[in-house]
This record gives sequence, C-alpha cells and structure tokens, in this order.
Amino acid sequence: KTKSAWDKNPEEIIKGLKDVYFDTTTSSFIDGQEGKLLYRGYNIHDLAEKSTFEEVVYLLLYGKLPNKQQLEEFDQTMRANRRIPDEVIQVLDLVKGSHPMDALRTGISALAAFDPEVKDNSVEATIRKGVRLTAQGPTIVAAHHRLRQGLEPVAPDPSLNHAGNFLKMLFDEVPDQETTDLLDVDFILHAEHGSNASSFGARVTASTISDLHSAVTTGVGVLKGPAHGGAAEEVMRMALDIGQPENAEDYCRNILDNGGRFMGFGHRVYRAEDPHARHLRERSRILSEKVGQPHWFQILTYVEEEVMVRYRSRGIFVNVDFFAGSIYYLLGIPDDLFISIFALGRIAGWTLQCAEQFEDNILLRPLMEYTGEMDLEYTAIGDRS
Ligand code: ACO
Repeated sequence: KTKSAWDKNPEEIIKGLKDVYFDTTTSSFIDGQEGKLLYRGYNIHDLAEKSTFEEVVYLLLYGKLPNKQQLEEFDQTMRANRRIPDEVIQVLDLVKGSHPMDALRTGISALAAFDPEVKDNSVEATIRKGVRLTAQGPTIVAAHHRLRQGLEPVAPDPSLNHAGNFLKMLFDEVPDQETTDLLDVDFILHAEHGSNASSFGARVTASTISDLHSAVTTGVGVLKGPAHGGAAEEVMRMALDIGQPENAEDYCRNILDNGGRFMGFGHRVYRAEDPHARHLRERSRILSEKVGQPHWFQILTYVEEEVMVRYRSRGIFVNVDFFAGSIYYLLGIPDDLFISIFALGRIAGWTLQCAEQFEDNILLRPLMEYTGEMDLEYTAIGDRS
C-alpha cells in the first residue's frame, strides 16, 4: 500500500465528505430525517409564508429579525445599491453569448474591480459587500439577458421590491403582485442551506483569506452543475419531453429501465421530503391552473406520486428543484435562467457562510490518499517510447 504525504495510512476515506462535520455554524439547521430547515432558528415554513426576501436577507446577515425601522433602512440600502458600473455592462456585452450562469460568474468577478472594500475581510465589510452583491446580482442577470437578445438593459427601479425590480429589469414590464410574491418566496427558499456544495466551495475560497467577491464567484461556479442547482432546468426539460400526462408512464419507465436518475429527486442530507418542496408544489399547482396549462403540474404529480413513490423507502424524495422549474417556465422565464435565479437567492447564504469563515478562520485543506506509482525513474524525452 502506498503512503500519503503525511506518512500515514488513513484509517478511513470518506468519499464526498458524506456526513462529515467540519465546523460549527449559526446559519441554518437541517434535520434530514425529519425534513426540517431553520434559518437562524426560524422555521423555513414560517419564513416562506409570512416573511419577505428583504427581511430574510437581514435575518441571515445580522442574525435577528429586523424591527420596522431596521427593515425600512435595510430595504433602502438594497434599493440604492442595485446599479452596476457601465464597465461591467460592457463586460457582460462582450460575453453575451455565454450561459447566464457564466455571465453571472463573470459579472460578479468584474464587480470586484469597482468595490471600494474588496480587500477588507472584516465581518462588517463582508456583510456590507454581501448586501451590495445581493442587490447587484439581479441587475447582472437581467442586463445579460437583455443584451443577448440585442436589447438595452433596463435600469433598476427603486420603487419596486427586490423580486419585482428583477422581473421588471428582465421583461421591461412592471409585474403583477402575485408574480412578484411568487418570486419573492422562491428567493426566500433558496437563500441559505448549510454546507451545501456551493456554500462549502465559497467557504474554501474564504478560508484562504481571499475575499467575498472571489468566494461568491466560486459559489456560482459550483452551483451551476446539474447535481446541485442545475436540476430545475433538467426537470422542466423532462416535463417538456413528456409533453402530456398520458406519455409520462412510458417516458419514466424508459429512464428507470436504463438506470437513469430523475432530476429533482434525492438529496445528500434529506431522507424525507425537502421542506422547500411543499411551498413550490402548491404554488406550481395554482400557477399552472391560473395560466391555463394544468398539464405541467399533472405530469410532475404523476412522476412524483406514481413513479418515484417506489424510491421513498430508500429515502429518495422530491427536492427543491422539482417544482421550481415549472414555476419559472410558467412565468415565461427561459430555462437557462433557472439556476441564475437560485444563485440570486443564495448570495445571502454564501455571504453569511464566508463571514462565519472569516470570523474564526482555519484553512480548509483535507487530504487524499495517494494510490499512484512511486519513485519512477525519470527518462530524457528522446529515450521515451
Ligand atoms: N433518481 C434515481 N436514483 C437516485 C436519485 C435520483 N434522483 N438520487 C439518488 N439516487 C440513488 C442512487 O442511484 C444511489 O443508488 P445506489 O445506492 O443503488 O447506487 C443512491 O440513491 C444514493 O445516491 P448518491 O448519488 O450516492 O447520493 P448523493 O447523496 O451523493 O447524491 C444527489 C445526491 C447528487 C442530489 C442525487 O440525489 C442526484 O443526483 N439527484 C438528482 C439531481 C438533483 O435533483 N440535484 C439537485 C439536488 S438539490 C440541490 O442541490 C439544490
């Protein structure tokens, strides 16, 4: 057996760091068996039904629910920070052919050049930068979406809340209250989720005492994959492929017979239903009826209740992405924007995770057992076969 860099034989290799605790947190609590999620001690169900995204961002970043005046001031700060420099718009124009997540990653990275506190990793400055990035994120996504259609970006509208302003910048039209509220809940549900892959990635970047812009850029890159945030897009693609509820059975059997995975199911932590799902399921049902396209919800219900029901005994239940895609689709949002919307909600969580990391930092640097060859003889290039 070969030896690791530390001349030790590891007793155990925990692939994927499954079930490994690497630190403590006051950000969120997850009970995967029960399907329970708390942000800063508050149940996600209460926050989804009673709160607003602005209030939840305040809760996450400052650790307590704001009073009326604190919320008003915070909301004003968010509204005042939505604009992005013209230079960043020019960068987005240069990369307008890229996937919206690539554009968001590039946009956040470019914002670092214009943020006066970029190098300040104090907790206070990190929170201030996180507020700015949360406010600026939608402007990047909307500007890129307009530019790639050959349209001028729409300026942020300070008279609208976070969700309403994003929709206005995307479609150049003030959204109705119901649509705004739907996106507001969606942002709340995506805001924070413990040491998920993208937050862990952001923390690794923070742990080198890099900076928040680099860490959020990491978070966007990690979130992009279909094993993480990319699943919503895939779920809606599946629903579109199925087309009508009566086709679902054959379609699903084909996936199962070929050992395929159903996007929007399964989770590293939950062995019960992901607590996000109930809010999105109900809203997907209402919206699909409202817009006169109930078959999308019927297809998803068939997959959940008739096909994936057999996986429940193995702890595989629906996750946050399963119904999110249908909501975005029914709102007229193009499928390649779905993950970006997830990312816009999660900037608050990444910021909180990085602030915690900076506050009590230790370099995140695990080990791997070396299983390759040892002490090979170097041969000159001309002597190699
Ligand atoms: N469909 C069918 N089988 C599944 C699914 C699924 N969606 N998810 C897990 N399984 C099965 C696996 O095949 C595996 O079976 P086996 O033990 O017989 O080999 C078992 O469940 C465990 O799966 P792992 O991949 O080892 O579990 P892990 O915790 O690593 O994976 C993951 C979690 C990546 C989310 C997985 O469930 C998956 O690929 N789901 C589909 C993609 C998805 O919806 N991602 C979004 C997750 S939520 C989020 O990130 C916001």
